[in-house]
Amino acid sequence: MLPFAQALRAHPAYFAAAALQAAVDLRLPDQLQQPGSLAGLAAQNGWDLRRLTALAVILEELGCLHRLPDQQWHWRACAAPPQPQVRQHWGRLAEVIASGQPLDSSEHTSAYQLSMAAAHAQPASEWASRWLPLLPAQGLVLDVGAGLGTWSRAVVDARQKWRALQVDSQPLDSLAQAHPRIQRLTADATALPRLPPVDFAVSAHLLHHLGDAAAQLCLQQMAQALRPGGWLSVVEVFELAGQPKPNVAHWFDLDMALYSPQGRVRPLAEVVDLLVAAGCAEVNWRILDAEVGVVEVWAKGVG
Ligand SMILES: C[S@@+](CC[C@H](N)C(=O)[O-])C[C@H]1O[C@@H](n2cnc3c(N)ncnc32)[C@H](O)[C@@H]1O
Repeated sequence: MLPFAQALRAHPAYFAAAALQAAVDLRLPDQLQQPGSLAGLAAQNGWDLRRLTALAVILEELGCLHRLPDQQWHWRACAAPPQPQVRQHWGRLAEVIASGQPLDSSEHTSAYQLSMAAAHAQPASEWASRWLPLLPAQGLVLDVGAGLGTWSRAVVDARQKWRALQVDSQPLDSLAQAHPRIQRLTADATALPRLPPVDFAVSAHLLHHLGDAAAQLCLQQMAQALRPGGWLSVVEVFELAGQPKPNVAHWFDLDMALYSPQGRVRPLAEVVDLLVAAGCAEVNWRILDAEVGVVEVWAKGVG
């Protein structure tokens, strides 16, 4: 399971208390005693609307905010009073919403990457097993936002004649396991270097880190890198109908509001549209983990 989802499931009270504390810090109970719009509130207080909206969705899930027609929101009595918060990590939500400046998480990079690789080893292996019958005997897989390269590594491990090119914006060579058929490259997902045609392109859990223009550019470049008939696979967290509470997609979106400059959890339909706009054909999707909302969207390159 996604490390964030594991933390949310293990410590729901911590996350709920942080969200409620942020509401109190921002004086939402007073400011939304009468119905009001989030846009109005953000403009009036000089807050970041995108980040405020992510908080409001969580407060709605907690039963503290009521969403009315015409984008009006109304404060309700809280289900539980906020606990005193440590003023770090999620305890700084109000500050981030007010300033629009995300927290710097760079000191946790190693632990983050290692936990991601451990959590994704099994899903990546299952994902690769489903793809193998569709892939040629030999080829090149491009992995963008690769982290330690778990997803493309699963293809290379299963197919002796496949090579991988793993791209990440962070230099992670000291953490990633070296492999003779894997090349690592430090580059931004929006500025991929000129590449040989690739047979398969994957981006797992990257898009939620990217702003809208960057997500569009990244998928365009991945699609352009594909040889005609090659496949592109995007693995992401999406909001699915009927998900249990806590709804990981909502809470993960607030986590992105806290830590990412422009990232967000997107609706599935938006990513489908981006792949169509990138010129891909046969766009389709399937649920990989219904509880968390992990979905694979895939498409065929047309060259
Ligand atoms: C959630 S991790 C996913 C890692 C790996 N794909 C996995 O699923 O295990 C997201 C990765 O995207 C990388 N990343 C974030 N923004 C990026 C960008 N603009 N360009 C390239 N990589 C980026 C991060 O450094 C991180 O390694």
